[in-house]
Amino acid sequence: MRIAVIGTGYVGLVVGACFAETGNEVTCVDKDAAKIRMLNRGKIPIYEPGLEELVRRNRAEKRLTFTTDLTEPVKRSEVIFIAVGTPTGEDGSADLKHVLAAAREIGKAMNGYKVIVDKSTVPAGTSDLVREAIGGETTHPFSVVSNPEFLKQGAAVEDFLKPDRVVIGATDEKSAAIMTELYRPFTRTGAPIMVMDCASAELCKYAANAMLATRISFMNEIANVCERFGADADKVRQAIATDKRIGPAFLFPGVGYGGSCFPKDVKAIIKFSGDKKYRFRILEAVEDVNEAQKLRLLQKVEAAFGKSLKGRTLAIWGLAFKPRTDDMREAPAIPIIEGLLERGARVRAFDPEARDVARRLFGSRITYAKHAYDALKDADALLVVTEWNEFREPDFKKMKRAMKQPVIFDGRNIYNPQQLRALGFTYSSIGRS
Ligand SMILES: NC(=O)c1ccc[n+]([C@@H]2O[C@H](COP(=O)([O-])OP(=O)(O)OC[C@H]3O[C@@H](n4cnc5c(N)ncnc54)[C@H](O)[C@@H]3O)[C@@H](O)[C@H]2O)c1
Repeated sequence: MRIAVIGTGYVGLVVGACFAETGNEVTCVDKDAAKIRMLNRGKIPIYEPGLEELVRRNRAEKRLTFTTDLTEPVKRSEVIFIAVGTPTGEDGSADLKHVLAAAREIGKAMNGYKVIVDKSTVPAGTSDLVREAIGGETTHPFSVVSNPEFLKQGAAVEDFLKPDRVVIGATDEKSAAIMTELYRPFTRTGAPIMVMDCASAELCKYAANAMLATRISFMNEIANVCERFGADADKVRQAIATDKRIGPAFLFPGVGYGGSCFPKDVKAIIKFSGDKKYRFRILEAVEDVNEAQKLRLLQKVEAAFGKSLKGRTLAIWGLAFKPRTDDMREAPAIPIIEGLLERGARVRAFDPEARDVARRLFGSRITYAKHAYDALKDADALLVVTEWNEFREPDFKKMKRAMKQPVIFDGRNIYNPQQLRALGFTYSSIGRS
């Protein structure tokens, strides 16, 4: 099939490359000319495991191209994906201006029947708005499909190639059949393709993210209670994770969730439920707990060193909102670093991938270490904020030699408290006294 993908970000680029990989002819469109120039030079604007190889191979085979103008790609494509951002608006809602702008541009460029697929995360009812926006610009026939994306950054390519399920919201059989055909190569191992109405499809994505965010906030509260009783949150986690009704995923206590999706999607569901006179009380609490949890490490630093951190150097390991990505959108590292700077500390930070992104956020206000151990030079303490694999088994003796004092605040519980204390570290983590 010939496919156009409008919006070439974390989702659009992965979607485009993966559909090209199964033999489709894909054009990725983005209004960001610098991004498209980069892609046309064979450079990938984001870090995502496996993506570079996929893009290189499909570009070479001429199945994957990049452009800033959607007119030609829309004209020659049968299926057009909208994968633009839906950031949080001023009132907490999902801002649909990019989605509707893309829809209008698609409408203007149409030259025959098209399936227009909303891949962006959008509130229930958006497919009707997209239909109106396109219909206002064209007399050609078209179908609007809602096809939420469940990939997770850090494993986006793998998730897309081997999805747990594919959700398709469609109002007619023709577009449902085209979408089912398109996804067939990815579901050969038995993952279901679930066809439903558009509003249900749109809600699936919010329900999934809201549930995952709830598990994280729930476990963070359990960890905070554990600290008050001298209990071990990891033991509690392991015990409940073996319960088949609960399972092990998304139960790790830490410094709270971040990223471009959970915070904005939790806000959006609270807002659109509220618009229909339904107060989503659980999610209000999930959000509150998460905001407080992002400051847990700062509270621990303050308890150890006092309110002023003047003259202190604090090392940070991990800036990205999670491992295997360079994305720092809503990353817990941001309020943590801001809090340390406000208290007068010097900050030396290291992240395997997010250094350039962090530089755009903090400029010269912090120091960017080239290697993990460089960040520890003369540090009064280390704060582990993102659980990159390379931080899991460090050379503790080397760490001790580099630091002014061997103090670790572990926001991801990646070390063994007994072992660290035996090695002479003052060690504090989340929910483990
Ligand atoms: N990032 C994730 O892990 C993830 C996962 C599932 C779903 N989603 C959803 O997918 C959507 C996209 O997310 P993302 O992380 O890829 O965003 P992103 O910000 O990385 O990318 C969006 C891109 O769309 C481009 N764009 C905006 N308006 C445009 C227009 N009119 N024409 C052409 N290009 C335009 C922007 O320049 C940008 O490059 C969001 O709704 C998000 O919630 C994201």
